[in-house]
Amino acid sequence: MGRVICIANQKGGVGKTTTALNLATLLAIAGQRTLLVDLDPQCNATTGSGHVPSERHALVDSRPLRESFVVTAQSGLSLLPGSRSFQDVDALANSSNSHSLMLATHLSGSLGSFDTVLIDCPPSLGQLTRTALASASEVLMPIQCEYFAMEGLTQMIEVIRQVIDRPESRLTFGGILLTMYDATLELTAEVDREVREFFGEVVFESVIPRDVAVSEAPSHGRSVVDYAPRSRGARAYVELCQEVLQRV
Ligand SMILES: Nc1ncnc2c1ncn2[C@@H]1O[C@H](COP(=O)(O)OP(=O)(O)O)[C@@H](O)[C@H]1O
Ligand SMILES: [Mg+2]
Repeated sequence: MGRVICIANQKGGVGKTTTALNLATLLAIAGQRTLLVDLDPQCNATTGSGHVPSERHALVDSRPLRESFVVTAQSGLSLLPGSRSFQDVDALANSSNSHSLMLATHLSGSLGSFDTVLIDCPPSLGQLTRTALASASEVLMPIQCEYFAMEGLTQMIEVIRQVIDRPESRLTFGGILLTMYDATLELTAEVDREVREFFGEVVFESVIPRDVAVSEAPSHGRSVVDYAPRSRGARAYVELCQEVLQRV
């Protein structure tokens, strides 16, 4: 079974979806057969890559999963679109429901043909995120360099620990990524110091700068490497991708 990287942080707006979109594109460019799974009912990863959300989420649909894979503009990258259907979200999230096991089953089954599966999680520590963590081999946590960056992290770490401690889990801490990095701000330097002191080597050396090209790219349905290959944001994501490929 390939790598399953869950991109999670219960806070919204920290760069989960942006990282999922750009990392997925770069892994595909690097020759990895990659699948991006949109698990967030907001479907930003789906619309941000220029596609439309599904009426039913493929993970709770009775059709074979592979019929729902969307071929993207990037060769080697497939997308499993998100769904805004409350009913589907409920089915996916309800732990007493057999659907919650479907992700894990799929990941070891039909999704096993991908080298890497990236899961873009919703901004919560609810069942959707927990289900994704339980099916993943790694969790990648973006942290925004802002005043409350560390707040709520202990809760998130606790949930990750609980999953890691389960005997059937293969989850490891894949890495922490500092996003919206502004080297000219004292606050950024402070967050950088604090996070690296606390988490050590788990923190990626690469940091993602605040860059308008990064935020513009999804409105064109493209990744930043495609939209603005020379931008600082694109270069930073290339560096991150290299680090992710080295950390196997
Ligand atoms: N490096 C960056 N520079 C500038 N804007 C960014 C950067 N990363 C993300 N953004 C913007 O910040 C907002 C939140 O990012 P997003 O990836 O959607 O976060 P999340 O998925 O964690 O909610 C979006 O509008 C996005 O375009
Ligand atoms: Mg998001």
